[in-house]
Amino acid sequence: MTFRAYVAEKVESSGGGVSVTRGVREFAAADLPPGEVEIRVGWSSVNFKDGLATRADGKVARISPIIPGIDLAGKVVSSSDPAIAVGSSVVAHGYDLGVARHGGYSEYQRVPSGWIVPLPDGLTERDAMAIGTAGFTAAMSVAALQERGLKPGDGPVLVTGASGGVGGTALAILADLGFEVWAATGKADEADRLRGLGAAGILTRDEVTAAGKPLESERWAGAVDAVGAATLPYVLRTLRTNAAVAASGNASGPKLDTTVFPFILRGVALLGMDSAQLAIDRRRAVWHRLATDLRPRSLGDHVTEVTLDTLDGALDGILAGEARGRWIVRVGV
Ligand SMILES: NC(=O)c1ccc[n+]([C@@H]2O[C@H](COP(=O)([O-])OP(=O)(O)OC[C@H]3O[C@@H](n4cnc5c(N)ncnc54)[C@H](OP(=O)(O)O)[C@@H]3O)[C@@H](O)[C@H]2O)c1
Repeated sequence: MTFRAYVAEKVESSGGGVSVTRGVREFAAADLPPGEVEIRVGWSSVNFKDGLATRADGKVARISPIIPGIDLAGKVVSSSDPAIAVGSSVVAHGYDLGVARHGGYSEYQRVPSGWIVPLPDGLTERDAMAIGTAGFTAAMSVAALQERGLKPGDGPVLVTGASGGVGGTALAILADLGFEVWAATGKADEADRLRGLGAAGILTRDEVTAAGKPLESERWAGAVDAVGAATLPYVLRTLRTNAAVAASGNASGPKLDTTVFPFILRGVALLGMDSAQLAIDRRRAVWHRLATDLRPRSLGDHVTEVTLDTLDGALDGILAGEARGRWIVRVGV
């Protein structure tokens, strides 16, 4: 059997520079990595990390050539684990997928059974990838703020990078739960869409990236930030006493230029979100919540479909900060 997969491969030029070639290739089952569960992939998605996995300077891909795609949803076609039934729909994301072993941009993929999330009732495979790693991380972030005690009515909650995958899904989930959510975005023309998702107010990118004092007026009861360098300093210095920010990303860069004052004078908490290494039982529990109480009402509304043949533009677009919702990849349906 052969099948199609999208591949990124590093190529060294005679001058010593490294570039990446990208495109669809034919693969054979023997080319797949080991794993107890073989999946006919229906859908995958485009995450910031996938863009980086196809860049020579991206520091994400640990093998070359690599089939990128840090998440996938599909049907089990063979399984040596009795707990994972042939014919069932499953999701897999994180761990080494699309980073240190082949990932979701492939009509077939093999995955260790310990990485498998049975698709919860109430979600289709397409829904699962409309959520994808970005939406999963948004749900993790909301759950972490709730565990810290945040409740609707506590005050406004800020979401940065609101037009993107993590930000947009966090905004939708929080608004659906009844929080007063404010969206920070660099795209003025996204304001109406973000209000439609439930944003109570909009902040411009300038407002959340300007330099400021070590501490400013206490404004936010909580925050979700996946932008990193450009916005996290503002978030920290404007959080209310004992409030927390769930920080997951570096869309604007990894450096953090802040002071300790938010932590030592206001008891502010910086909650780190790592979806890739989250233990499988907790991962399955978050997916269960995504199918129930954290399911965004707008699920599936703000997606752009691409295929293995039209992936390049989405991978470049996400790195250029052009996301407007989520790109999903129709792989084998
Ligand atoms: N820790 C984890 O487990 C985890 C999981 C998933 C994602 N992530 C990380 O989270 C980040 C976001 O991922 P994503 O998939 O949501 O990406 P995305 O869809 O591209 O969203 C990122 C958003 O950030 C804003 N942004 C981009 N560049 C910016 C800049 N230079 N300055 C200020 N804002 C900027 C843009 O929103 P606006 O134009 O609306 O401002 C953009 O849409 C990435 O760094 C990704 O690696 C981490």
